Amino acid sequence: MKRIGKLLGGMAVASMAVLSVTSAASAKDFRLGLITPPPHIWTKAAEAFGAELSEASGGEHSVTVFPARQLGNEAQMLQQLQSGALDMAFMTVAEVSNRAKDFGAFYAPFLADDVAHAGRILRSETATGLLDQLPAKVGVVGTGFGMAGLRQIVSRVAIDSADDLSGLKLRITPFEPILDFYNALGAAPTPMPLPDVYDALANGQVDAIDMDAELIWVLKYYEHADTIVQSDHMMFPMVGLVSAKVWAGLSEEDRARIGTLMAKHVDGTIDSYIAKEQGWLDQIKETGKTYKEVDRTFFGDAVAEWDGIWSEKSSVLDALREVAEDTANQ
Ligand code: BEZ
Repeated sequence: MKRIGKLLGGMAVASMAVLSVTSAASAKDFRLGLITPPPHIWTKAAEAFGAELSEASGGEHSVTVFPARQLGNEAQMLQQLQSGALDMAFMTVAEVSNRAKDFGAFYAPFLADDVAHAGRILRSETATGLLDQLPAKVGVVGTGFGMAGLRQIVSRVAIDSADDLSGLKLRITPFEPILDFYNALGAAPTPMPLPDVYDALANGQVDAIDMDAELIWVLKYYEHADTIVQSDHMMFPMVGLVSAKVWAGLSEEDRARIGTLMAKHVDGTIDSYIAKEQGWLDQIKETGKTYKEVDRTFFGDAVAEWDGIWSEKSSVLDALREVAEDTANQ
């Protein structure tokens, strides 16, 4: 709620002119896009947000959810948010970090010890304070963070040490921090959007993928693997976004309602991953595939190399590492 108060204050001046002509609330069917498939936790959260907004507004507002990249990839959806052609999105912070470099600090390797720790970091004031950058830098309003657990490696070939990653064609989500991590490991990182991953792994277009436990299990990526490396090497945050243009045209009441409810539902995804991550990992372990559990030492100098690169690119890396230290073992 504190965050929404801040949002309302911050946007008030810029949107005064718009508000004066649109102060009467007008019914709207908001369009919300995401890249995740219909059964995914993010998509379910988007639908629950829409249902609650509709109820809270007495049916005045509704939300139509477009999952599975129906409105385009995340870069395209971000452009649509900027122009006001799209109202809302639940988006990877990865895509946002391509436009606002400070957000890259969330991908500091081994920032979080486990998924609950990742949740505490994302709920810190240092983390949520970053959302203030979004209207000016990206043309969107960030209501709050969610996530998709921690990252693992699924490989068609055996991986006994980090040396085995050298030269490996390894699928990554298209964003810079993860590219830098796998480059530091000598791999051949291959940026590829989520919907293309299953076929690429199945037909050997890539040797390995960087992925989270939910999708490894639910979308059965493990079926095409020799080895699953549970490395928990990075968190994978998500952010609830509203087009700044659309936001400027909303009444104060609608902003408060939309901001609060969207924040609640994106934040709820953090609790879902905390509750479910271990169960997915246990089921993956039971598939009979080679399952290796490794820690940061497995990756040798790559973690320090990444920190060296990103302490230049993101001004909040040290602050976020401090938050991580303060919130460890709670
Ligand atoms: C991915 O690119 O791996 C990804 C994107 C959205 C949700 C989960 C994973």
